[in-house]
Amino acid sequence: MKAIVYEKYGSPDVLELKEVEKPSPKENEILIKVHAASLNRGDLPTLRGKPFLFRLMNGLRGPKHNILGDDIAGTVEAVGRNVTQFQPGDEVFGISYFGAFAEYRCVTEYNEPNQSMILKPASLSFEEAAAIPIAAITALQGLRDKGQIQSGQSVLINGASGGVGTFAVQIAKHFGAEVTGVCSTRKMDMVRSIGADHVIDYLEEDFTKSGEQYDLILDVAAYRSIFNYKRSLSSNGIYVCTGGSMGKFFQAMFFGPFVSLRGNKKLGSAGIAKPNQEDFLYLIELFEAGKVVPVIDRSYPLSEVAEALKYLEEGRAQGKVVITVAKE
Ligand SMILES: NC(=O)c1ccc[n+]([C@@H]2O[C@H](COP(=O)([O-])OP(=O)(O)OC[C@H]3O[C@@H](n4cnc5c(N)ncnc54)[C@H](OP(=O)(O)O)[C@@H]3O)[C@@H](O)[C@H]2O)c1
Repeated sequence: MKAIVYEKYGSPDVLELKEVEKPSPKENEILIKVHAASLNRGDLPTLRGKPFLFRLMNGLRGPKHNILGDDIAGTVEAVGRNVTQFQPGDEVFGISYFGAFAEYRCVTEYNEPNQSMILKPASLSFEEAAAIPIAAITALQGLRDKGQIQSGQSVLINGASGGVGTFAVQIAKHFGAEVTGVCSTRKMDMVRSIGADHVIDYLEEDFTKSGEQYDLILDVAAYRSIFNYKRSLSSNGIYVCTGGSMGKFFQAMFFGPFVSLRGNKKLGSAGIAKPNQEDFLYLIELFEAGKVVPVIDRSYPLSEVAEALKYLEEGRAQGKVVITVAKE
């Protein structure tokens, strides 16, 4: 089968389209013929091996897992003998860390910390389904579980125009919040079009200095000190960090609970998104009801994953960038 492979850490230019062995499913695995995959910002540090933490996770000297891609949509081609949930011909989508930028991928059928697959509803195309998994699960868990979002709250999404942010804006609206999205000038219209009530251009205005306060801040683009965010929370407000710089992410994760000890504001990190079928079922209901729509900027063929990653890295993408592996 064909796959996009990297043998050493580096820029997208180290990626190569190669012929590699097609996997065969173990007894509890399904073999998926991949139709579409999508990029996530985390692919970039994993590819570059920077910050260093990414080498600790995927090999100090070189990448142990050498096919990137975590979001998959495709058709089950074969199943291991103990598999009960899926059968050949089923259309599925979900998360499986590594291995999506390839023609085939084996995944276990049940939830694991790093993977979860679910039947794809016919109403979603493979490209739409591939755009959903990590980004939408991260937005949902950040807002609902860690953020305890309530109807009528004022919610700010910092980083509203990207993969996670475009889902977060729509999911927050579904929960009945008044939503403010923060993004760059060029992407403001798109963020309004997906339902944001207010949009702030971070190139023109620092929302942490405006005096405005929010009941919940979901921070997908944490580049400021946690104390700045605390200032922008209303009484009993919650700040949840899901992304941004590694330093600020860990500041929120480890320092947030201490900062929260004084006063009635809670600050912290949502940690890493937890793939699971229950949340996919919840999200599928929102997609089928038309309450949330994946925002897909572009789709690239498998052979152009490097170009797609450059496009994402340059900050040009609005919403998600998808890889079409096999035409429907
Ligand atoms: N915790 C988890 O499990 C998890 C899961 C998925 C992603 N993440 C992390 O979440 C972050 C976002 O992921 P993504 O896939 O949504 O990335 P993305 O698609 O590249 O979006 C990044 C967003 O950040 C915005 N942004 C950049 N600089 C900003 C600034 N100074 N102020 C405010 N917004 C700014 C961008 O706005 P413009 O494009 O308008 O400039 C865009 O909306 C990444 O750090 C990623 O690693 C974490």
